Amino acid sequence: MKKINVGLIGFGNVGSGMIKILQEKKSFLSNKIGFQINIKKICDKDIASKRSISVEKNLLTRNIKEIINDPQIDIVVELIGGIHPAKEYIIEALKKGKNVVTANKALLAQEGRELFAVASDRGKNIYFEASVGAGIPIIKSLREGLVANKFYSIFGIVNGTSNFILSEMSNTNCTFNQALGEAKLRGFAEKDPTLDIEGIDSAHKLILLVYLCFGRLVNLNDIFIEGISRISLADVNYAKEMGFVIKLLAIAKKVRDELEVRVHPTLIPKTHLLSSVSGIFNAIYVSCDLAGNLLFYGPGAGQLSAASAVVSDLVDLTKDIQVGLFRPTLDIVVDKSIRKLRRIDEIESRYYIRFMAVDKPGVLAKISGVLAKFGISIASVTQKERRKTQVVPIVMIIHEAKEKNLRQALEVIDRLDAIRQKSVAIRMEEV
Ligand SMILES: NC(=O)c1ccc[n+]([C@@H]2O[C@H](COP(=O)([O-])OP(=O)(O)OC[C@H]3O[C@@H](n4cnc5c(N)ncnc54)[C@H](OP(=O)(O)O)[C@@H]3O)[C@@H](O)[C@H]2O)c1
Repeated sequence: MKKINVGLIGFGNVGSGMIKILQEKKSFLSNKIGFQINIKKICDKDIASKRSISVEKNLLTRNIKEIINDPQIDIVVELIGGIHPAKEYIIEALKKGKNVVTANKALLAQEGRELFAVASDRGKNIYFEASVGAGIPIIKSLREGLVANKFYSIFGIVNGTSNFILSEMSNTNCTFNQALGEAKLRGFAEKDPTLDIEGIDSAHKLILLVYLCFGRLVNLNDIFIEGISRISLADVNYAKEMGFVIKLLAIAKKVRDELEVRVHPTLIPKTHLLSSVSGIFNAIYVSCDLAGNLLFYGPGAGQLSAASAVVSDLVDLTKDIQVGLFRPTLDIVVDKSIRKLRRIDEIESRYYIRFMAVDKPGVLAKISGVLAKFGISIASVTQKERRKTQVVPIVMIIHEAKEKNLRQALEVIDRLDAIRQKSVAIRMEEV
């Protein structure tokens, strides 16, 4: 049987998972695809520590050159994470005529333009199925399964840590910090969870989804990013009482000839499919012209789940190599009807707003007066528990308003004597 030789860089969590699958499913896979995927070399900084899977000692090296410079290696799998030296290793590998598989969303989001250009220049491919939603086959589905579609929008719950925290707050009535503590305890949050809870990881994944759906590789700076660290238990509960759930959504939405690209906490109706995506699960809700509305759902992380996607890329590349197929731009087509990206100020949305006001007659009238001045109309208002002389929450849902107008109105309202805390505004989506 013909062999495809693979060099793995990064024998960590996902790397070991990949080796495990290739070892345990060796004949299953080769029977399926008619080729043998052979691990020729594994490079890691540490080749002494015991891993979850054992390999022959002579496969291991600390020297990256043993992979990059080996002419017999057809595919390089980068699973070390981070920007440097992952970027340099991938470029070197492409220049040496190798195809590449990576799960590194941060790298592709930040350096994708250069990496894809080098790949294209060299007639090689970079596959990255594990980079969004781990084992959920979202990349292949967008690229191949939905190839005839025009996309309208993507709504993604693509960060398991944030989704776990928000679910925990809602289900157990705990604060953000308590939920984060629980996530750390259960291994669902890193020691430094900033990338996850501040929405940056979601933005990295959104960049890749937007690339696949709309053909634009947007910059991180082009995305409005707001994390979940300021979400209070009170807002989670008030939203729940009104029939909504708060989720950290990665959103790409085509509005006429503009594209909105944003990541932020969002109120969605309890009845929507995405509301039931709890804990560390991920889901991507895609709307397109032919296939309609689709939901891709599953564990968004995990050794075997991510490695399953890496192996699927290996199999695809193996097939490409056998037939001499080169996909210069991964069949990605630019949606030319999009004229520009819409700035966050310009978006129109419904909003959940919470004011903390002194419980005095006339306060509500003053607030609604300011909102009206900025052309903002109220859909519903609830004044929570009445306590004389104390500060009480006033919770409002407002009809579609321009973000810029709302911000200006809130600035004015926050300066009113009766308002005792900065107002909270959370965007809403019907999805
Ligand atoms: N874990 C998941 O569920 C998951 C899901 C989807 C995508 N991903 C992506 O998959 C990639 C790998 O994640 P992971 O969880 O497997 O990470 P990991 O467990 O930290 O594994 C990375 C491995 O690479 C080694 N390494 C780091 N720098 C190196 C270098 N310069 N040369 C050689 N080896 C080096 C690390 O060694 P040290 O530990 O000594 O630094 C470690 O053994 C990341 O891009 C991640 O975002 C992960």
